[in-house]
Amino acid sequence: MTVERIVRTVAETSLEVREGLAGRRGYEDEENPSGEKQLAADLWADELFEERLLDIESVAAYASEERSGVVEAERTSNGDGRYHVAVDPLDGSSNLRTNNAMGVLLGVYDSPLPARGRDLVASAYVLFGPLTTMVVAVDGSVTEYVLERDGKSVEMRTVTEELTLPDEPTVYGFGGRVPDWPAGFENYAREIETELKLRYGGAMIADVNQVLTYGGVFAYPGLESRPEGKLRLQFEGNPVAHIVETAGGRSSDGERSLLDVTPERIHQRVPVHVGNTRLIDRLEATLGN
Ligand code: AHG
Ligand code: MN
Ligand code: MN
Ligand code: MN
Repeated sequence: MTVERIVRTVAETSLEVREGLAGRRGYEDEENPSGEKQLAADLWADELFEERLLDIESVAAYASEERSGVVEAERTSNGDGRYHVAVDPLDGSSNLRTNNAMGVLLGVYDSPLPARGRDLVASAYVLFGPLTTMVVAVDGSVTEYVLERDGKSVEMRTVTEELTLPDEPTVYGFGGRVPDWPAGFENYAREIETELKLRYGGAMIADVNQVLTYGGVFAYPGLESRPEGKLRLQFEGNPVAHIVETAGGRSSDGERSLLDVTPERIHQRVPVHVGNTRLIDRLEATLGN
């Protein structure tokens, strides 16, 4: 019930965020802890999620890609404080400039952050495309909703229950510049690009949503210049791994499930590979593991 409340709060707040993006497309002077320039929209969305999520009694702490520390809830009474939420307030926020897909990512952990992916009790993303959809993994199943305003409230209309990856994969999307890919990953990519169609849009959740819909593989691999890759374990890697694995697929950092990666720092990066099981098995074999 309380996890549902967290998911519903993120659904409602995400619609509010979506509706307020137009006037917040410019960059601020600040950088986030990953060294990325922050848009007005990144900072504003982060503050809204912080306020709304810490208002829920079962939420013990809030962390996001856009702030350095974990914010503990201040409670005077009856908060059981079980859940530690990690949010990417806008995933793919650079797409705001070009008006391409982007959205919100949520991980609900039942241990203090940084936490292992195995400690996720729920994960979700909200995708701002032509429609606003939300994909939620909880209690061993994945559900896709369409979010719509209904007067003052937000309706979460179920469109797909028990979502699973299709058996015959057709799409792939790989981040990073090709000359920066390690040889093992480049060999894998050379094979995959002869078999599947490229779908890459610069917002992980949008690209992963294509993989969930059509089957395939998304990766932001470790790079020569940055072996840990670009994406962040707590806010990005773990939640999508949890969703894809719950939908019957696999995730990997190159050697093991992302859910088994030991978290050391809140903003720690990790190579991300998610998709159909046999495509991720093949990746690990090609990388030599
Ligand atoms: P964010 O906007 O939260 O910083 O995340 C951007 C991430 C991810 O969504 C996407 O897969 C990747 O960065 C795109 O990076 P490139 O621009 O290097 O392709
Ligand atoms: Mn960012
Ligand atoms: Mn992101
Ligand atoms: Mn972000």
